[in-house]
Amino acid sequence: MWLWTVALLVVSAIAQRCPSYSSYSRQRHGPFSAGAYQLSYQRPAPACRTFNSSAVEGAIGRMQSLIKDPDLFRLFENSFPNTLDTTIAWKGFAANNSDEDLCFIITGDINAMWLRDSANQMQSYRSILNSPEDDIASLYRGVINLQARYLNEAPYCNAFLPPPESGIAFSPNGAGYVVTPSYDNRVVFSCNFELDSFAAFLEISHDYYNATQDIDFFGKFQWIAAVQSLLGVATDMMEPTYAPDGAALGSTYTFQVSTMSFTGTLGNFGLGNPTNRTGLVRSPFRPSDDTSVFEFLVPANAMFARYLETGAEIMDLLPNAPRGLARQMSDMAASLRAAIDQYAIVPSPSDGQTTIYAYEVDGFGGRILMDDANIPSLLSLPFLGYLDRDDPIYQNTRQFVLSSGNPWFSRGPVISAVGGPHIRPGTAWPMASIARILTSDDDEEIVGQLQELVSSTDGLGLIHESINTFDQSRWTRQWFSWANGLFGQMILDLAVNKPGLLARSFQP
Ligand SMILES: *[C@@H]1O[C@H](CO)[C@@H](O)[C@H](O)[C@H]1NC(C)=O
Ligand SMILES: *[C@@H]1O[C@H](CO)[C@@H](O)[C@H](O)[C@H]1NC(C)=O
Ligand SMILES: *[C@@H]1O[C@H](CO)[C@@H](O)[C@H](O)[C@H]1NC(C)=O
Ligand SMILES: *[C@@H]1O[C@H](CO)[C@@H](O)[C@H](O)[C@H]1NC(C)=O
Repeated sequence: MWLWTVALLVVSAIAQRCPSYSSYSRQRHGPFSAGAYQLSYQRPAPACRTFNSSAVEGAIGRMQSLIKDPDLFRLFENSFPNTLDTTIAWKGFAANNSDEDLCFIITGDINAMWLRDSANQMQSYRSILNSPEDDIASLYRGVINLQARYLNEAPYCNAFLPPPESGIAFSPNGAGYVVTPSYDNRVVFSCNFELDSFAAFLEISHDYYNATQDIDFFGKFQWIAAVQSLLGVATDMMEPTYAPDGAALGSTYTFQVSTMSFTGTLGNFGLGNPTNRTGLVRSPFRPSDDTSVFEFLVPANAMFARYLETGAEIMDLLPNAPRGLARQMSDMAASLRAAIDQYAIVPSPSDGQTTIYAYEVDGFGGRILMDDANIPSLLSLPFLGYLDRDDPIYQNTRQFVLSSGNPWFSRGPVISAVGGPHIRPGTAWPMASIARILTSDDDEEIVGQLQELVSSTDGLGLIHESINTFDQSRWTRQWFSWANGLFGQMILDLAVNKPGLLARSFQP
């Protein structure tokens, strides 16, 4: 009895001692790194971590001997484990099937699960997915199953609330949103239709299959139905604004909300700007959750095409898949590629001779030449596996998006990188610096980007969403798990492909 009481007191004391990571990540904690930037140690205390992985600790140990710069190592040590340390809000099984893993992963400082973020948060652990010491594979299965459930229930939506099985309390979001189709606000957190959410589901499915070859998993639960659900929506979202006789058509999806922000709602009574039939899929919202200007968002269509191809390979191996479904996926991938080639390759503004990819088009000749930091972006196309980084049109596009010709390339003494309208002009996104490294073979370009990343964290030692290019103390989002994981993934990639760069000094 006495022992029990003591044990209970200890447990509740530990629970109370875990601070909210939202405030913890705003403050500096010792011991500080030994370099000039004296970066904070930002991992939560072991008792406060949301998932323990010896494979992650092993990777940190290996990197400690490869990375010679103390500040660069500290940034890796803080950021790589961030998703497992802080965002695995719940892990369990479906109420009606005790074999069906479920896992609810929050995006960081917002208490909801994004389809895109959760796929990418897991992607940072792709290289250790199969490690026998711990069960990262079960987190992958849990995320895929929960995403499948969401896609079956509300396929137009992008971010979701905890499943009832978790018992996690939440308050419904969404007062004031007028969206068709309507949705249950005990399930959905926000319902911005973003095509890359579909690509993200297929991407995490591919990552899991590629590492485990566990094909049976995909036939067991709701995966096939989820793919059918998203293919139906993608087909509906190819429909044009006008019928051949000129009659204005409706849309299966509309979105309106009262907001101060031009990029927060859709014009034309929730329809967005008109589009012609091209074979591309409309994405009224970008991966930043801002509205698009022209709805055929090229990077999202490219990412969707690429992961439909690998999704079709999985579908083709499932004995219980409906006939023709794998073929439907690979046909759609091929027609998306053809439509991108036909409608999205446009003359470069720099010389009018060479060609580049537009960021968005409308099928009437309307196009927007820019890039946004959020992935999928034009900059990240080779990282997504859509094309090879030596592709000449990609190289022209890359030169354009990394120049002042891109209205969202933000320059300054602190950091220069692609930003985006989600924050404001003059703010660079570290995520875009990371994408630049992941798509470069140029040692000096990579070292320059690493130097900017290490020196611009405001001493906090985490990857922020955006940074004012003239003042690093003006950043957004102290707890952005995906960006932290992507930094870790990039360092592990360098350790394989360019380990010599990790031995360099990044001191001022
Ligand atoms: C992780 O390990 C620590 C001990 O090092 C423990 O206190 C904590 O509860 C573990 N976290 C989980 C989610 O199991
Ligand atoms: C569990 O419930 C889901 C709907 O939430 C349903 O699609 C699925 O078939 C059910 N599974 C079993 C084993 O009953
Ligand atoms: C897994 O990925 C590797 C590297 O991209 C590729 O070579 C291999 O074919 C993939 N395997 C499967 C089964 O998808
Ligand atoms: C719009 O698409 C139709 C075919 O669907 C095509 O005939 C027409 O030329 C297109 N309009 C423009 C301005 O490209």
